[in-house]
Amino acid sequence: MPKAIAFTINEKKSAVDVEADVPLLSVLRDRLDLTGTKYGCGEGRCGACSVIMDGKLTRSCVTPVAKAEGKRITTIEGLAKDGKLHPLQEAFIKADAMQCAYCTSGMIMAASSLLTRNTRPSREEIVSFMNRNLCRCGVYQRIVEAIEMAASGSAGVSAAKS
Ligand code: FES
Repeated sequence: MPKAIAFTINEKKSAVDVEADVPLLSVLRDRLDLTGTKYGCGEGRCGACSVIMDGKLTRSCVTPVAKAEGKRITTIEGLAKDGKLHPLQEAFIKADAMQCAYCTSGMIMAASSLLTRNTRPSREEIVSFMNRNLCRCGVYQRIVEAIEMAASGSAGVSAAKS
């Protein structure tokens, strides 16, 4: 039976009437029109659906919406501030770190989580952390370069909190 579930998404309070076990990803995409978060595997394995929930990197495809009750969620749509792209978004563009771009929002959300906890990760730390996100086009090298660029501030901006 549907029930009202309230949360804060990209700094705006929101509530939906929905079955508790519906995946958060479906609510984001189908009810709130936040389609930047992608459906890839649907099994928690690829990272395309990554969002930040109460500061934690979360795979929204395997997260029942009931778990989002009262939480603060950031999606790719919430990273840019005041019309200015997040440093990671700038860096991904500058490093051309995408091909089909289906994985890009998940990659950026994961990288954002990494840089929030470690502002200057080594290349090994980036590779290790990002290993859980899949890119079928194989642009991993450029993704790592983009994250290094954002962390160093050489994308023209410095890494910011998300
Ligand atoms: Fe959620 Fe693949 S779609 S991890």
